[in-house]
Parts: sequence; structure tokens; C-alpha cells
Amino acid sequence: MSTNGQHLRKPIVAIDGPAGAGKSTIARHLARRFGLLNLETGAMYRAFALKALRAGVALDDEAQLIALSATTAIRLEPTAEGNRVLLDNEEVTATIRTPEVTQAASKVSVFPPIRAWMVALQQQLGTEGGVVMEGRDIGTVVFPQAEVKIFLDADPEIRGQRRFDQMGPKPAIDAAAVIRELRERDQRDRTRTDSPLRPAEDAILLDSTHLTLDETVAKAEEIVAARLAQQ
Ligand code: C5P
Repeated sequence: MSTNGQHLRKPIVAIDGPAGAGKSTIARHLARRFGLLNLETGAMYRAFALKALRAGVALDDEAQLIALSATTAIRLEPTAEGNRVLLDNEEVTATIRTPEVTQAASKVSVFPPIRAWMVALQQQLGTEGGVVMEGRDIGTVVFPQAEVKIFLDADPEIRGQRRFDQMGPKPAIDAAAVIRELRERDQRDRTRTDSPLRPAEDAILLDSTHLTLDETVAKAEEIVAARLAQQ
């Protein structure tokens, strides 16, 4: 994105990694610290999955999913607290966080035409830079030219337990079930043929298994500051 050595757009920070690694929290902190917009691409797959569930479309019916995508409008609006998500102009920010939508999102996201549609939308959103974009394929596919790429990871048990702890005082499922679902989703995300979850070759790996949230945020900030200083 540079001409005559001059950058024409603001920086892009890509945060990829498996479910429950803390990507959203870290991305939100980085956005605040570096004055960037935070865009959660998982929310887009979730919104489309919600639409498919509501429409009664089978989650493995590629042709029907493609037809459905043609009449679907998904918008992300970054705010200080996270992204507002609009599906066909209806706010679905909270509705897309249920376990059913979560699993459905990882099923609809295996199909290349669905991914191509989402990737194009995401590239449009980040075209001027100035964003922290988080997902599974940001550093590898959506913005391979991103100035900073972080691959955030942690052991599956730790990720599942953290997810469980965030569920409040009376979770509908137990910790073991959360860990099981997370492993299932990881497996699907890592083994799909189109854009599987994997670190970009030039991504910096950040493993938060033995780190507190504050320590992980501090390390991520160091990585971004160092990379941006080199630009
Ligand atoms: O990040 P989040 O857990 O909200 O993502 C939900 C699902 O959407 C993931 O499990 C993954 O299957 C899919 N996804 C994806 N590519 C992205 C973001 C999310 O395939 N860039």
C-alpha cells in the first residue's frame, strides 16, 4: 500500500486466533490505546448464521446459503464497548452470542462463496486503515499487507474455562461442555479447506496461557508500538 515509500493509508492491526483466546478484549484495548477502530469479523459470520437459523436454511446447504446471502445486509458499527451489529437494519448485537448461533457461525463459514462475500465486506471496512480487525483469517487473507499481525493463542482448557467464567453466576451449561464446544469449533476452523485458522508467516505469536489479561494487553501493546515505530 505504499507509493514512493509513503503510506497512503493508516495502519492495520490484524488479530487472529482460536475461540476464547481473548481477541475481542485485546483488540478493544489496542483500539483505544492507538486510536484505531475495532472491527470484529466473527460478529459478521454470527449475524449471517442467525439469519440462516431464522430462515430455517440447513447449515450445510451451500446453494441455499449463497441465495440467502444475496438478500442479506450486515453492518458493524464500532463503539467504545465493542461492535454494534446490524442484520438487515435490525440490531442483533446480543442475539448473536448464544451457543446455537456460535456453533452455526462456524458451520456457515466453511463455504468459500460465503467467505468471499465476507472478506470483500471486511476489506471495504478497512480500506482506509486505522483499524484493529480480529478474526481467523485477517493476517492471512483479508489483510495480508497489515502492518501488525498478532496470533493470539492459549491452551483449550484455559480458553474454555475463561469463557465459562465470563458466563455469569448461573450458566446454562457446565465448564466441560464449554470446553468441548470450543474444541469442536477450533477443529472445524482449523481444518476447513478455505482459509483455515493458522498464523500468517509474519505473525507474532502471543500465548496467553500463563498470562493475566493485563499482562497479555501489555505484551500486545508492546508488539504494536514496536511494529508501528518501524514503519
Ligand atoms: O470470533 P467469533 O467466535 O465470534 O467467530 C465465530 C465463528 O465465525 C468462528 O468460530 C469461525 O468459524 C468464524 N469466523 C471465521 N473467520 C473470521 C471470523 C470468524 O471463519 N474472520
